[in-house]
Amino acid sequence: MQEKDFVKVLSPRVACLIVSKNCEGKINAAPYSFVYPISFEPPLIGIGVGKHKMTFKNIAETKEFTVNVISENFAQQAVNCEEKIKFDKRIEKNQLHLEESEKISVPRIAESKAVMECVLSEVIELKEADHVIVIGKVLGVKAAKKDEMIDIDSMNYLMHETGGVFRKVGEKVLLERIKKK
Ligand SMILES: Cc1cc2nc3c(=O)[nH]c(=O)nc-3n(C[C@H](O)[C@H](O)[C@H](O)COP(=O)(O)O)c2cc1C
Repeated sequence: MQEKDFVKVLSPRVACLIVSKNCEGKINAAPYSFVYPISFEPPLIGIGVGKHKMTFKNIAETKEFTVNVISENFAQQAVNCEEKIKFDKRIEKNQLHLEESEKISVPRIAESKAVMECVLSEVIELKEADHVIVIGKVLGVKAAKKDEMIDIDSMNYLMHETGGVFRKVGEKVLLERIKKK
C-alpha cells in the first residue's frame, strides 16, 4: 500500500465542476473532488487545488467561482472538462451550458442540480504541498428541494473515489445524535 492511497480511504467525495473566470472574462470549468465544508458561520468551503492549475490562477485573479455538484445527467461531460485544451473551449466541446448566477458574475453550469456561488475568502499556501487550499465564502446556493429541504435523493450525485472510479449515493440511514444542552 502506498501513502497516496489515503485519498481512496477518504472517498467517495462529492465531485464538482468548478467554474472560474480570468481577468479577460474567459470562462473555465474543471472537475474537482477535494471539496469540503469548513465553517457554518461564515459559510466557508475549502478546495484543494493543484498549485499550477488554471482554476487557482483564475480565482486568485477575479476572486469569484461557482461550485457545481456533478450529477449522473452530465457526469461524463464534466469529467471530460479536465482535458488540457484551451480552457475556455471545454464547456462548448462537452455540450454543457452556462446560466447566470444570482450573486456573482461567474456563471453556473445549467445542468448542475446543486451549485454554490462563492467569493474568495482566503488562499492557504502550504510550504510542502503540491496543492493550495482555496477557501470560498458561499453567497448563494441553488439545490433541488422537497418540502423546503434540500433533496439529496433527487439529485443523483456521482461521487468520486479515485481515477475514473465513481459511486452513486446510497440509501439514507438515520442515527440518534446527542441532544445539545
Ligand atoms: C473527478 C475529478 C476530480 C478531480 N479533483 C481534483 C482536485 O480536487 N484537485 C486538483 O487539483 N485536481 C483535481 N482533478 C484534476 C483536474 O480536474 C485537472 O488537473 C484539470 O485539468 C485542471 O484544470 P484547470 O487547470 O483548468 O483548473 C480532478 C479530476 C477529476 C476527473
